[in-house]
Amino acid sequence: MGRKVVLTGMRTTGSLHLGHYVGALKQWKQIQDAGEHECYFLLADVQALTTHADNPTLLSRSVIDVTKDWLAIGLDPTLPNVHFVLQSQVPERYELSALFMMIARYSEVIRNPTLKTELKRQENASMGFIAYPVDQVADIYMVNPYPIEEDDEVLVPVGEDQVPHLEYARDLAERFNNSYGPVFTPCQPLVGEVGRLVGIDGKAKMSKSMGNSIDLSDSAAVVKQKVMSMYTDPNHARVDDPGDSENNPVFMYLRAFDPNQEEVEELADHYRRGGVGDVALKRRLVGVLNDFLEPIRQRRAEYEKADLGSIIFDGSHAARQASIPVIEAVRQYMSLIIP
Ligand code: TRP
Repeated sequence: MGRKVVLTGMRTTGSLHLGHYVGALKQWKQIQDAGEHECYFLLADVQALTTHADNPTLLSRSVIDVTKDWLAIGLDPTLPNVHFVLQSQVPERYELSALFMMIARYSEVIRNPTLKTELKRQENASMGFIAYPVDQVADIYMVNPYPIEEDDEVLVPVGEDQVPHLEYARDLAERFNNSYGPVFTPCQPLVGEVGRLVGIDGKAKMSKSMGNSIDLSDSAAVVKQKVMSMYTDPNHARVDDPGDSENNPVFMYLRAFDPNQEEVEELADHYRRGGVGDVALKRRLVGVLNDFLEPIRQRRAEYEKADLGSIIFDGSHAARQASIPVIEAVRQYMSLIIP
């Protein structure tokens, strides 16, 4: 019987929103609750430095915010198979990263579509930023079960923007195994059904820095105010006008969060024919989102006094333990040993 490991993570650059939930956290929690995997959830504070090296205060606050958001949505590090890992607290990871850098090729890294898109938005990108697709490969494989057994699994549940990175992670694992010896189990990406959520302005994806997010920590009043200001269909000026229910963020959110999807589709039909007002539609969404967020708010309050430091210490320690046989095998195979 193979061993099943999950490693996934988020950059710690601010508190989390509904987009993080549908794109990632929902799947993480399902996997955690199924209980078949050893789960390592990575607080990627080192990767956050690739873009925010000038703002360490933001980073330390974000580690706490993200940890609280994870706890609030129901990730549970008191379970024996769940670990919250702070990336900077696993020094073995840097070693593995440095060694993956040796077999990764510059030409293939700069062709990475996600990196290419991000580079366009970024002036003065750091070397750390350019190299992050390779560095991230070390995140994944530091907890690769070793020695490998048949049917081992390294599962990486992510948003769809991360898929090119994971394909690359598979390539590098195979390259290493072919050149040196069998150490890595190529990872499996897992993308949720609703891969991404647009912002409340209807533009691009939801993002805190673009000011178009509904945050997991927003109060009921803030959610209401944000939803009531949401972008809908600009051509749907009067209630009786036919409206667009497809490229309409209110419907997108209803499809992602409303427990009664049948009613949502009836409403969408009606909206397309004309006769449904935006205000009524938004009121429904306010209710749906606050129903969704209420248990999250309650759990957040329960965790108010939790000792985040020891949660993170223990989780990082678990990742270090898992990484030791991996890094020892890599050193051996790459001849990094006292002769
Ligand atoms: N790049 C991911 C993000 O931007 C975060 C991340 C870091 C990650 N290391 C990872 C995701 C390893 C999956 C696996 O959100």
